[in-house]
Amino acid sequence: MSYLLSNLLRRTILLSIASSAPAKRWSPWQSLEFAGGQQVPRHRKTSPVMANMVEDSQDDRLSKLPDDVLLNIVERLGIVDVARTTVLSRRWKQIPAILSKVVILAGSFEPKHEDWSKLTPDDIVRANTTVLEATRSILERRAGSLYPIHLLRMQFYLGDESILIGQTVANAIATQKVDSAEFTILTKVRKKCTKNELLIYGKQFMSFFDSCPNAFGGLARLTLENLRLGESGFPKIFSICKQLEFLSLYECDMGIKSLLEVEHPQLSELVIVCGRFERVDLKWAPKLTKLKFNVFRCRDDPFCLGYVPLLQTVSIINVAFTWHKMLKLSELLDKAAISNLSLDFKSEKIWVKPEGRRQLLPVFHKLSILNLINIAEECDLTWTMFLLDGAPSLKELHILVRNHLCEMVTGKRRELPVVCKEKDKGLEWEPSTSDFKHHNLAGLSIYGRFHAVDKLVRFARNVVEAAVNLEDIRLYKSPVCVRCKYMLQEWTFEETSWLRYEFSKEIPSHVRIHFPSLGQVF
Ligand SMILES: *[C@@H]1O[C@H](CO)[C@@H](O)[C@H](O)[C@H]1NC(C)=O
Ligand SMILES: *[C@@H]1O[C@H](CO)[C@@H](O)[C@H](O)[C@H]1NC(C)=O
Repeated sequence: MSYLLSNLLRRTILLSIASSAPAKRWSPWQSLEFAGGQQVPRHRKTSPVMANMVEDSQDDRLSKLPDDVLLNIVERLGIVDVARTTVLSRRWKQIPAILSKVVILAGSFEPKHEDWSKLTPDDIVRANTTVLEATRSILERRAGSLYPIHLLRMQFYLGDESILIGQTVANAIATQKVDSAEFTILTKVRKKCTKNELLIYGKQFMSFFDSCPNAFGGLARLTLENLRLGESGFPKIFSICKQLEFLSLYECDMGIKSLLEVEHPQLSELVIVCGRFERVDLKWAPKLTKLKFNVFRCRDDPFCLGYVPLLQTVSIINVAFTWHKMLKLSELLDKAAISNLSLDFKSEKIWVKPEGRRQLLPVFHKLSILNLINIAEECDLTWTMFLLDGAPSLKELHILVRNHLCEMVTGKRRELPVVCKEKDKGLEWEPSTSDFKHHNLAGLSIYGRFHAVDKLVRFARNVVEAAVNLEDIRLYKSPVCVRCKYMLQEWTFEETSWLRYEFSKEIPSHVRIHFPSLGQVF
């Protein structure tokens, strides 16, 4: 009986979400909740008549469903969509009080456009009005509930009414047990804002912030975009958001060449994407474990590390122009002993400077995973050995060699004088001893199109010669992004036979060559 009911219920809910499937659009976070997952029949038309029929026949039976069964279904299918169906009207009254996961995302109310920039102002107004209604409908109905909310995740547009959302959340945090609260605050213009828009959004955000300090004070995660704040903006955010564990900033700053100083007792993950900071000074962040820098415009080191004793994972992504400095990792990562490092060159100029073992050891002695991503196909790869030489504990080395046209500077812009013509200039490197050996490297993974196969074979041979305990080499097809997803992802028999032959000419037979299929997309 209850199985039948849950099926019926699921079908009804699917009917209602088919029309409000999450919008697929550009987003550096991709955090949209896919209510209902694969089962959602996206193209199915919702017929109000049909929905009503289902409603009439099942409302009574729904009230017999045990709480835990209903809750399980509701949480898996996206509570907001459930809230919006009138199907549950009678039963719904009890549901908000027992929910443990409240996820309300503006993205899931927007019409499905391939391209987010096609969203009209009306779409946005409708989406954020629905967010406000859903927030109230769920949180206000929980008043007095003894069930804790484990996760309260909100994504909404910055607007005058954001304050009402903030106050509702602040009230929930004050009166109920909320383990983890999260805000993702979107701006109406999502990409390439003008200077003026950045300033307007910055002001608007700060007045929202000032009017709901209690909501911000309870957040564990905060994601912001397109804000140019005044001098006191970030210091205020850090001092009010005391619980903050995760902060992501996309095109946020305090003006061109501004300095961001980070002092925070709880922050464990910081993501900085674009923005015009001259430098981010991580002065005191005793719990910071992850740091990600994605594209920076400063000429010098983009960040400096102060007291960050737990920092383990660092990821740096940049397109280097002629005026960018060649970064010295020993100086940049000074005072940290990280274990996982990713460097992404976006198929343009290599922007790290080879250094000797003695300089690198203090920052690399714990390094166990190294990802070298998007090295342009025309680059020589010999320089990469300096990283192996300086990191004796390294266990896994992943290298992706490709010219990824979706990310590269293409067309007329390539002719601009700031675009580097020679991508591997200034990478001369001498090994510390003529026959240096590495004892810990266990796995080498090479991702690529294997067009310049000789270069990759030579690189693998150099690694094998140094890494005396290396037993496995994995060759992967170049990963694809959403834009080049039409490219074939699986190896063909001809390709693997050919590569096996090419590698066997130079690689000793005790090293096994594998051809796994790609389980991930970069
Ligand atoms: C929704 O967005 C519009 C346009 O940006 C804005 O005027 C309105 O205040 C926003 N509403 C909410 C609920 O945030
Ligand atoms: C290492 O860091 C990368 C990204 O910076 C991440 O995707 C990967 O999961 C990390 N690996 C481990 C074992 O922590």
